[in-house]
Amino acid sequence: MIQIKNETAIIDLIHHKLIFKIISNRVFLSLNKEFDEKDYIGEDIYHLYPLALSSFGHLDYREHLIDIADINGYFSNRFLFKKWEVVKPVFQDDNFPHSRNKNEGLMIEYENESNSIRVRQYFYPYLKSETIVSYLEITNIGKEDIYLKRTMSLQLDLSGSDYEITTFTGKWAAERHITKNKINRGIFKNSSMCGASSAFNNPAILVNNDSNYILFNLIYSGNHMSLVDQNFENTTRVLIGMNDYMENIKVASNETFITPEACMTFGCSENDIRNHSHHFIKDNILKTTNFPIVFNAWEAAYFNLDKTIWPRLSSIANRVGANVFVFDDGWFSTRNDETTSLGDWDLNEDKVGSKEEIEEEFKNKKIKPGLWFEPEMISEKSKLFQNHPEYALKDPNGNYILMRHQLILDLVNPECREYITNKIDKAIKDFNPIYVKWDFNRLFSDFSSEYSYGGKYIYDYYCSLYRMANELMNRNPNVVFEGCASGGTRFDLGMLFYFSVIWTSDGTDAKERVAIQDGTSFVYPLSTQSNHVSCSPNHQTGLKSSLFDRMNVATFGQFGLELNLLKESKTTLAELSNHIKFYLKYRDLILSGDNYVYRGEGESINVYGSISEDKKEAIYLIVSYDEKYKVAKFLGLDPNKKYHLSFHKQNNADSDIFPELTGEYLETRGVVVSSLFRENDRDENELGISTRIVYIKEK
Ligand code: GLA
Repeated sequence: MIQIKNETAIIDLIHHKLIFKIISNRVFLSLNKEFDEKDYIGEDIYHLYPLALSSFGHLDYREHLIDIADINGYFSNRFLFKKWEVVKPVFQDDNFPHSRNKNEGLMIEYENESNSIRVRQYFYPYLKSETIVSYLEITNIGKEDIYLKRTMSLQLDLSGSDYEITTFTGKWAAERHITKNKINRGIFKNSSMCGASSAFNNPAILVNNDSNYILFNLIYSGNHMSLVDQNFENTTRVLIGMNDYMENIKVASNETFITPEACMTFGCSENDIRNHSHHFIKDNILKTTNFPIVFNAWEAAYFNLDKTIWPRLSSIANRVGANVFVFDDGWFSTRNDETTSLGDWDLNEDKVGSKEEIEEEFKNKKIKPGLWFEPEMISEKSKLFQNHPEYALKDPNGNYILMRHQLILDLVNPECREYITNKIDKAIKDFNPIYVKWDFNRLFSDFSSEYSYGGKYIYDYYCSLYRMANELMNRNPNVVFEGCASGGTRFDLGMLFYFSVIWTSDGTDAKERVAIQDGTSFVYPLSTQSNHVSCSPNHQTGLKSSLFDRMNVATFGQFGLELNLLKESKTTLAELSNHIKFYLKYRDLILSGDNYVYRGEGESINVYGSISEDKKEAIYLIVSYDEKYKVAKFLGLDPNKKYHLSFHKQNNADSDIFPELTGEYLETRGVVVSSLFRENDRDENELGISTRIVYIKEK
């Protein structure tokens, strides 16, 4: 799949090819079609050529992959090809996220003309998922320091200009909405600069025309940036990597800087991309797809989860069928609201009970305790801040602003990182939870630190954070860790390398959730998304919805609960319990199946499916947005197989059986489903959506 022959190298991904060609000591890179040497006219029209690596100095005035200054501020960046080879991957430890299971890759080596900087560019293909992972290794081979001003990870120059871009944009409680734009001449930027991959713009972007779909993503959680630069000559350059905003990374003589890894996934349609991306992530980023049924007490009791409440709540959660009862924010120190105590991770015995009392309560029960932490944070009002104000990130004059009354810890300070790692490790060992939720609830504003500097701080921060997460996970191998950042503020491949499941969003309103899950599962597997049924009216939107719709929506991911079971009726508890049984029956199919989405005309109906690899069974979520005549189409089945459909009803009651229909019929003609939605109690439902789950099995 990687061949080097004379001046040409090819990475063959079955349906897509990257073709590299050396012309005049530069590496040209084109997708699928070989660059025609006849089109190479000379150096002074570089803005026409598809290049593997762009930088200042080549008369290429599109956006560059890298920009590096020498000690005098001169950009000595004319990189020339030196050699290339097929290489085996080097050993990568888990203190920084990367794609696992690398096989052979293509390494291209360049040096600048003054022979002071060496750049090695790596491309590792993953055939099954049609994905290529790429990164750069930049080494100072001169005598003086150099300064990296932009170090992005991956570039692809596409021919033509008829592209569309899909980004995943949002805000708190409404993350990763699918957003489409036509790419026009000029520069399109998708980025974050808040110190996290962000709820605003997820790092993933899809660039496509009618025939080629390419999803770009970054295995990193800090500030990211993608640029799509389309010029008047109809060339379209895509770049992805760390955000260069404020970047100024000093690399001394003989030192090397390695960029985070970026990946590009190829396909011929959105559904193709979705499945290739899911396979790539499941096989090469995640550690596991196993996860318990979580009951999280946050929306049930917020900061009031004391010993008069939680034992009753956990008993009901146990009866209903949850495996973990999560003590969310408020179990420690004097934290009874959001103003205090982050950093003081000692059990508040007066409020929650002693360690022994807690142990006793969970003894002989199937449900086990889980614990919430916000490891990276410190409250201004805390013992930790009193004793170690220097652990909190501030500006160089010691000034700071608070967000949610808290500051971020300077994890780059090794003493601070060690202190907080040990403190959390001790709390985990004392409390003995089977599950930990790792939250992050403020964004960066100041980051002056003795241990790093402005232009590199965010990168250094993530190196320390990843190291700390890895260490805590290694020290507690039997604990399941779930990621969270005010919900989905850090839903990215960097976090997923450690946290195989992330709390998708604080937005638990069923309609909003459909939009969030729609965008999230465009890129990330269903198994990575944790979805909880919350109460009605919803706490974020105030809208009422039926239990049935809330349960159906939460089913397509890691199902859990977040509602106050003490206030729910017996009927509701029985329905939740039944639904958990239903979910467990189909969980493997939902989480491991291939995912196909049908979008009805006029955005009036969507059908989300998980289809088994052998196409013998499938499960679909139908979401209808109005009450008009509706046809649901079911994609991803075997056209020649005959199937029967059963529509899941509330309470696991009898299902409707449709006559046998072929996969082809179900995909092209579909089934009229309008009548099914009228059965739902619309008075209960202010959402304006209705949902049904359909199980389809080969006859
Ligand atoms: C964040 C999380 C919530 C909850 C609160 C606790 O907002 O997303 O699920 O844990 O913090 O403060």
